[in-house]
Amino acid sequence: MTEQTTPPPRPRADGWAFLREAVRDLRTTGAVAPSSRALAQALTAPVRARAPHPIDVLEAGAGTGAVTRVLLPQLPRGARLDVVEANPRFAAGLRDLVAAQHCEDRVTVHRAYVEELATDRRYDVIVSGLPLTNFTPAQVDRIMARYLELLHPGGTLTWFAYLGTRRARALFATRAELHRHAAAERALATHLRSGRTASRTVWANLPPARVWQLHPTAR
Ligand SMILES: C[S@@+](CC[C@H](N)C(=O)[O-])C[C@H]1O[C@@H](n2cnc3c(N)ncnc32)[C@H](O)[C@@H]1O
Repeated sequence: MTEQTTPPPRPRADGWAFLREAVRDLRTTGAVAPSSRALAQALTAPVRARAPHPIDVLEAGAGTGAVTRVLLPQLPRGARLDVVEANPRFAAGLRDLVAAQHCEDRVTVHRAYVEELATDRRYDVIVSGLPLTNFTPAQVDRIMARYLELLHPGGTLTWFAYLGTRRARALFATRAELHRHAAAERALATHLRSGRTASRTVWANLPPARVWQLHPTAR
């Protein structure tokens, strides 16, 4: 893995696979297209920042592997990656991706909801692709609590949120949906107070997105 510096190209079929799953269940899939290379690079910055240490990394909500493909070549020697994906069809594709990259010895794909992931492992970096503000406030609480539990002290959680979704929702969503979205954003904001945050905008993605990092304060 460490010898390879360029991520493997994304198969064209991934875009269709993603769209198909979005049509089945837009709320859980959270997008209609995979993340761009630029967004994946921004999300994985905390992994590069820790090289060459042999860190433990968790990727949650990997979809068709747009971020995984960028992540794999960045893993330092001796690092381990757990990939968690709730959708069984995406999880099967991720297993194929890992097999094609010959990295089964350090990468494990779990078909699971990340908030229910059964593991004693703790991670230096968690890369989350979950559409957090699509969930109910109770789900946001459960997922964020599990992320904080799974992080090593001094670890980094990174995730993204699309820009402009509040405005789009204001045009099309029902009153109940607007209420749920606002409550989910408040729940997320509460968890952000558990540490130091930083964010940057990635314009080269459809739609553009804000990438966040949370460095929880010592518990
Ligand atoms: C917005 S997509 C991101 C996919 C990919 N990381 C990317 O950036 O292209 C969100 C993914 O999270 C998965 N997902 C949603 N809820 C999940 C959960 N609770 N645990 C694990 N995966 C989840 C969905 O199936 C979907 O593949």
